[in-house]
Amino acid sequence: ETPLLVDRYGRVARDLRVSITTACSLRCTYCMPAEGLPLVPRDELMTPEEIGRLVGIGVRDLGIRDIRFTGGEPLMRRDLEQIIGAARTAADDAMSSVEATTGSQGAPEHVRIAMTSNALGLDKRAGALVAAGLDRVNVSLDTVDREAFATLTRRDRLDDVLTGIRAAIAAGLAPVKINAVLLPETLTGAADLLAWAVEHGCNLRFIEEMPLDADGQWTRDDVVSAADLLSRLGERFALTPAGREDPSAPAEEWLVDDGPATVGIIASVTRSFCGACDRTRLTAEGTVRSCLFGNEETDLKALLRNGATDDEVGDAWRAAMWAKPRAHGSDAVELAADAFADTERSMGAIGG
Ligand code: GTP
Ligand code: 5AD
Ligand code: SF4
Repeated sequence: ETPLLVDRYGRVARDLRVSITTACSLRCTYCMPAEGLPLVPRDELMTPEEIGRLVGIGVRDLGIRDIRFTGGEPLMRRDLEQIIGAARTAADDAMSSVEATTGSQGAPEHVRIAMTSNALGLDKRAGALVAAGLDRVNVSLDTVDREAFATLTRRDRLDDVLTGIRAAIAAGLAPVKINAVLLPETLTGAADLLAWAVEHGCNLRFIEEMPLDADGQWTRDDVVSAADLLSRLGERFALTPAGREDPSAPAEEWLVDDGPATVGIIASVTRSFCGACDRTRLTAEGTVRSCLFGNEETDLKALLRNGATDDEVGDAWRAAMWAKPRAHGSDAVELAADAFADTERSMGAIGG
């Protein structure tokens, strides 16, 4: 048995994404139906203790070094501070024991804990989340045009989101990354959104829309191309190519007006980064998914609740990741890079 989360294609997962709820305060059309997603019954959600235990196993035994909480919307959980706190304690304890066994000198490596959020209500909680051990936040924001925001998210709450972002920066979560899903509507407001991001010191990244909307409306023809976006932004900003932060980073970056601000494009559809994927994911119900797409899930929470040992949980997690599909949920080599396996869950239920 290999110690790390390795798959048949030689990729190693070091980045753990944990969805903690399917509930959300917005209803973005590309992510959720108007009525929202079915809620996971409360006793099927992972508790802070269970999340802490899985984080500990992931860091100590499986080589996880980055943790990101997603949803739905993580802030919908009233116990988010406890979840972050449990993850922080478990990750730090696990790193201390890793360093003790490898005999390395100096302070243990810091496991980064982040969250992807829509920032609604973050103004009241940012300070407590930082105190609990949160390092970073990525905020989903597609436009700074109030009407376009209300149409896209089906809620008129742009000002509350902007307040949440400012509070996150003030609480020390800077630099905040902003994720904008690229749609015909966001293309129109893209330059205004970039101007807002530059003014507030945020790093903006545009994301090609993937077929993860709950209504199955997605078609390849509607995907806005990076070229269209760049020419639109080029009308107002000077953009210099800056490559990728690291080879497994999803975004290709450009310096805006010679920096330090950057703008990125996550071309998940037209330039898939599956070959360098280093992710493993847990759903809100505590099952491990090896890929955003594909429908294989292994129930780790059931193991925890049935009294399994850490080694048994680690083995099940490794076996699940060994079977990780090659790209976009499929092992077929003839699958085009911009094709996707059918997924039963929408983005809001997997956690982007
Ligand atoms: P950083 O570590 O800050 O770069 O965050 P991140 O980009 O890993 O996380 P974030 O939650 O901000 O995700 C950004 C976007 O990348 C998501 O909205 C998805 O559209 C896309 N994405 C996330 N995970 C995957 C994945 O496993 N596969 C693919 N194809 N796209 C993904
Ligand atoms: N395609 C691409 N990104 C999506 N997100 C939600 N649905 C989709 C989709 N269909 C993004 C959100 C958020 C991140 C977690 O996933 O905007 O930033
Ligand atoms: Fe909620 Fe995020 Fe999905 Fe929008 S993209 S509905 S904010 S989970």
